[in-house]
Amino acid sequence: MERELALEIVRVTEMAALASSHWMGRGKKNEADGAATSAMRAMFDTINMRGTVVIGEGELDEAPMLYIGEKLGNPDAGGPEVDIAVDPLEGTTIVAKGHNNAMSVIAVGDRGTLLHAPDMYMLKMAVGKRAADKISLFDPVDKMIEVVAEANNKRISDVTVIVQERERHQHIIDAVRDKGARVKLFGDGDVGAAIAACLPHTGIDLFLGIGGAPEGVISAAAIKCLGGDMQAQLKPQNDAERERCIKMGLADPEQLLTLNDMVKGEDAIFAATGVSDGELLQGVRYLGDDMVETHSLVMRAQTKTIRFVRALHNVEHKPNLLWK
Ligand code: FBP
Repeated sequence: MERELALEIVRVTEMAALASSHWMGRGKKNEADGAATSAMRAMFDTINMRGTVVIGEGELDEAPMLYIGEKLGNPDAGGPEVDIAVDPLEGTTIVAKGHNNAMSVIAVGDRGTLLHAPDMYMLKMAVGKRAADKISLFDPVDKMIEVVAEANNKRISDVTVIVQERERHQHIIDAVRDKGARVKLFGDGDVGAAIAACLPHTGIDLFLGIGGAPEGVISAAAIKCLGGDMQAQLKPQNDAERERCIKMGLADPEQLLTLNDMVKGEDAIFAATGVSDGELLQGVRYLGDDMVETHSLVMRAQTKTIRFVRALHNVEHKPNLLWK
């Protein structure tokens, strides 16, 4: 993939974040998601690429835009053929409530490299570079903590495990506390949490828990860029979901999925723009005088460059973003 594509992609997440940020705290999660989706869709067509949505807003009959299979980009310019995974607004409830941790995210891979994860639950584990390849998803939690403590040169009592605050995770929370390590709970938005576990400056050592499978593949692309590790297991809840996994080519729906199973090949691009403040990125800030600030992260797996992009947008010159 051309490296210029990474900067084009971050312009797309910026636009989606700006559009959905208008809905912050208004109690309307569908409107916030819709604004992000329309803005993202419009920006994609300005990019010279031949993209296909493999993870999107739903199947063709469920979503008017960014549906699975939809073609994106300007194909006439002969750009790269790519798989695209989008979550225009990761954390729809967060934005509706005005809480922290919402982002707009995109992962891009060469055609055929991103797992077409169905919309179901997935058990996920993510760690940074130093603990990569030293932990298995199926290890007991206390062993995982010992490994990350040693890898990150920390006392067990200083280890922080980030876990989504859900009843289904109580056994993980109890196991972390019993071991003497610390738990950082978050409400929504597990892509940011998984990435945070792979960046040393966050102080988070391990991400563990069950969340959405589409978010899992997007996180895997980011973690490939960061040189960390992620392992996962789909958690079909009924026969129909199990059937979907088998149709996808997974003979055993609950097989271990490695980082390379989720994102094949050497290259991937990940971009995210904060909508509300989070572990990873600041949210959209309205500065007055029509100036709006965004904070984004854009990375490429091939070069492992991690770029934080701060942008000041003058909305007077972007009439589509003016809030009536
Ligand atoms: P939405 O943006 O679709 O609301 O997803 C938010 C999220 O917290 C994801 O980050 C996570 O993977 C999933 O929901 C967890 O699902 P649930 O809310 O059912 O526990």
